[in-house]
Amino acid sequence: MVIAPVVSARPDPNAAAQRSPEARLDEAVGLAGAIDLEVVESRLVTLSEIRPATFLGKGKVAELADVAKAEEIELVVVDAALSPVQQRNLEKELGAKVLDRTGLILEIFGRRARTKEGVLQVEHAHLTWQKSRLVRSWTHLERQRGGFGFLGGPGETQIEADRRVIGERILKIERELEQVKRTRGLHRAGRKRVPYPVVALVGYTNAGKSTLFNRLTRADVTAADMLFATLDPTLRSIRMPHGATAILSDTVGFISELPTQLIAAFRATLEEVIAADVILHVRDVSHGDSDAQAADVASVLRDLGVDPEVDPRVLEVWNKVDRLAADERASLAATAVRRAADRRPLLVSALTGEGEDELLAAVERRLSTGRETLIVTVDSSDGSGENWLFEHCDVMDRTVDEDGAVRLTIRVEPDRVDGLRRRFPNVAGPTAVKPAAPRRRPGRRRSA
Ligand code: GTP
Repeated sequence: MVIAPVVSARPDPNAAAQRSPEARLDEAVGLAGAIDLEVVESRLVTLSEIRPATFLGKGKVAELADVAKAEEIELVVVDAALSPVQQRNLEKELGAKVLDRTGLILEIFGRRARTKEGVLQVEHAHLTWQKSRLVRSWTHLERQRGGFGFLGGPGETQIEADRRVIGERILKIERELEQVKRTRGLHRAGRKRVPYPVVALVGYTNAGKSTLFNRLTRADVTAADMLFATLDPTLRSIRMPHGATAILSDTVGFISELPTQLIAAFRATLEEVIAADVILHVRDVSHGDSDAQAADVASVLRDLGVDPEVDPRVLEVWNKVDRLAADERASLAATAVRRAADRRPLLVSALTGEGEDELLAAVERRLSTGRETLIVTVDSSDGSGENWLFEHCDVMDRTVDEDGAVRLTIRVEPDRVDGLRRRFPNVAGPTAVKPAAPRRRPGRRRSA
């Protein structure tokens, strides 16, 4: 059962609260679904005040207890922050386990953490949360430990012992995190040497990022994937219409009113975003609260130092257009067209594939800005030179001349052009080069 309490006497001043209560309930149900809970019952509960002991009023608790009993409900999700005492009392009264919003989000983050850093960050957040709850819930209980001396001095209370054990675990995780971050830094430096640009997907939870990620990367696993797959399953390569390769990075979804203990864990998953060459902000435009969700995402991006209003790397992807009525779609398209061409949102459906080509073309245009296209001719005897170019440059096309010389069309950062000219005297461009004709779903990078 999912409950979204609405406190009528105390309007919440923060932005998330401007969402309609129904939308908040929907979101909570969606979040519960995200961890495979079968939601039997969901309801808005209006309260005139928050009760210190049970959060909800006596009558409400009794009513919900009846429902829980009748429906044999095992878990009740309360979309609010409960104190440990409130949680325990509610569990007793309702005869079911109770999870509050922070607990639910921790559970989701725990399931989704795919990298070692993510797992550690979530565990860190979990422990920090537990530790803060120990203080609040147990200080007045002050259970006295028995006479075992090894866990602490005589007279150490249970609460102190528990806090110390948790504190030690937190320190250990922090040390491990430092190590993982150093390794990640090295990997990232390694990736910089293999100059594939990075395209990051960000967006509110349920916006369709993973669906889009899977659609765009559905082509065969490429050489680039081999490099990253073991490192991080949220990175995969994509091919641009003209043949260039980029790395697509999926990120964990944004959720409004993120509990403070989770903000660090969440930001850690977004490190890729800061360094990305293109940031695709995926929005569910079929959602009633699409604008509020976008505002939440924008504010987190700004905290990360990426201002979506002015940062040329940010492109909005208006997803789920298949769910819109014709007139809604036309009105969105008209709104999109009014934006400057280089900031124009792309209307797509990650589900049906509509708009996918236009999206890739827009990403490619964005990526090619500031990069130079060159043609390098490599002598047929210089196999190692060709290998070097494949390993160190973004190769978009390869042809073989009649005399056996290999011509590679490559795209590089301007500051690398001089170095290339030194190693390969036979470099043409950039002005002499026309882009190759678009190719749909090219095969392997390296043709025989
Ligand atoms: P988080 O992992 O929570 O951040 O979600 P996400 O942004 O990765 O969303 P996900 O790809 O998991 O999609 C959420 C739901 O929306 C799934 O049920 C998808 O099938 C559905 N969905 C995604 N894209 C589309 C779309 O273009 N059209 C429709 N109709 N449904 C979509």
